[in-house]
Amino acid sequence: MKFLVLHGPNLNLLGKREPDVYGSLTMEEINQSIGQLAAELGCTVAFFQSNSEGGLIDAIQAAAGDCDGILINPAAYTHTSVAIRDALSAVQLPFVEVHLSNIHRREQFRHSSFMAPLAVGQICGFGRDSYLLGLRALFSHLENRPV
Ligand code: DQA
Repeated sequence: MKFLVLHGPNLNLLGKREPDVYGSLTMEEINQSIGQLAAELGCTVAFFQSNSEGGLIDAIQAAAGDCDGILINPAAYTHTSVAIRDALSAVQLPFVEVHLSNIHRREQFRHSSFMAPLAVGQICGFGRDSYLLGLRALFSHLENRPV
């Protein structure tokens, strides 16, 4: 099984960006942990980060036919992007939405997600563990998928 791990805008700044909200780990450190877990589970992961909506959409489209699922932190686009939601809907790949912070206990504008209604599930509030739990959940979801 192969998964695409997608990081949205400003997540390349993790480690320096609002550490009180997002923690002190860098995106590379988080990716390393995801890679380790993927090896344990016996699956493959590819990583991509973009600050632009188009970059993320291109990556989602490219995942069709190449990946079995997507683990995505759409960052601020979670709350704004119909285009990313449409891309996820178009490729019909199962995906799990993750957030480092608990978006539901933050500002009102972060409470809604354009992606969540299409996702297998959403995991938020656990920092790096949100990604790790998300990968486990996506993997199990696909393993148990009735054929
Ligand atoms: C985030 C939450 C979003 O509201 C915010 O815009 C981000 C990061 C998170 O991981 O907690 O950039 O997706």
